Amino acid sequence: MEILPIPDKRDPGPGLARLVAAGPLVRMRVPVVGEMTFATTHAACEAILKGDGLFSTDIANGRNRRIKWFLRLMPRNVRVMTGNMLQKDGEEHRRLRKIVDAAFRRNAVEAWIPRIESIAAGLLKDWATSADGDFVRHVARPLPLAVICEILGLKHEDRADFTKWMAAMSEAGTVSGLPRLYISLTRINRYLMAQFKERRRKPGDDLISALVHVAKDGEVLTDDEVLAMLGLLFIAGHETTTHLISNSILTLLDHPAERARLDTDAALEVTATDELLRHVSAVEMTKPRYLLRDMDFLGVPFKRGQAIMAHLAAANRDPAVFDYPDRLDLGRKPNRHLAFGGGPHFCLGAWLAKAELTAVLRLLWKQWPDVKLAVPKADLQWTAQTGIRALRTLPLTPSPRAGI
Ligand code: HEM
Repeated sequence: MEILPIPDKRDPGPGLARLVAAGPLVRMRVPVVGEMTFATTHAACEAILKGDGLFSTDIANGRNRRIKWFLRLMPRNVRVMTGNMLQKDGEEHRRLRKIVDAAFRRNAVEAWIPRIESIAAGLLKDWATSADGDFVRHVARPLPLAVICEILGLKHEDRADFTKWMAAMSEAGTVSGLPRLYISLTRINRYLMAQFKERRRKPGDDLISALVHVAKDGEVLTDDEVLAMLGLLFIAGHETTTHLISNSILTLLDHPAERARLDTDAALEVTATDELLRHVSAVEMTKPRYLLRDMDFLGVPFKRGQAIMAHLAAANRDPAVFDYPDRLDLGRKPNRHLAFGGGPHFCLGAWLAKAELTAVLRLLWKQWPDVKLAVPKADLQWTAQTGIRALRTLPLTPSPRAGI
């Protein structure tokens, strides 16, 4: 199998096209974990994601020595987070997912939309009057953070701390970044456990209190499972959406004609969010899938425990499924993108992420139609984080609509 370079985050199109052309399976060197096998075509990624029974997401079923070494170095209070639903298979996965599923279904998220729009409107106002105009700092990070905090029931006054911890995590893309990652995760875990214990004493009507009710003193959910669940919801619930929002705004600024279609055709809103999810692919790859037995997969022999990752960003540019895959077409239909993964681990927060992006798109251009980049595009910087396409900052000049 060919070893290919990781696509450039600035302009991933050519690198992603190379991955698809060399697919369905390629090798790449990933920081921290080393050389890995990736599925890069849409069909190969789908086969892995839907391959329940053939593949496992549970790290205990893997045989990658570096990943095992990486796990052993983790402090215990961080390691418990690897027991979350994303790293469980079959019945155990279904049991954990079922506990929180209803809170993130489409109808539950629709009830949150007015609140999401009101938070977004307040943040946009702050951004427009800020000195640095940084859209990541003032909108893309705080919006999903505020929303997941409200759903979980975490206090407003604690958000400055989370923001600091999460920003440190975004920088942890290399071995030298691991100590900072562990420190941030330890702080997040301690905080979440304290919140859970507080709700045990004094329940409210938030999701953490609902988990207290389900946990029933360890009978249904152990303390470690609660912590793993809260950690996953908290981190997955905003980190990814932050990068979807900031990259989407940058993409639309780069495609003014497509952006203008949103002004004249409100019905485009639904297809536009899916197309931005596909084009941006903020979550570039899934967690590793470990083979549960020796077998040939797509003509390549694998041993039990070997890992394959689905390269979602590559699959989302596969010309076999998407006409002109590098083209942004806000009306694209059908759009079988894999930005949220697929199969049993399909993203639990898909509706929430879409609602947050839609709120920003609805409000931003209505009030600031001439918003533009405040620095040359070449000066923008992406973090070194593996598997996530994350802008460090996105300085924008608001230029408000006359009369506002
Ligand atoms: C743009 C935003 C988001 C993107 C691109 C994204 C992407 C993904 C992907 C690709 C997976 C599957 C990973 C794999 O199979 O290895 C996933 C799983 C998951 N996501 Fe998201 N996500 C986003 C937002 C959210 C939000 C807002 C939440 C809030 C609850 C969330 C919660 C989860 C959870 C809990 C899982 C694990 C599901 C399971 O194992 O059954 N995500 N997400």
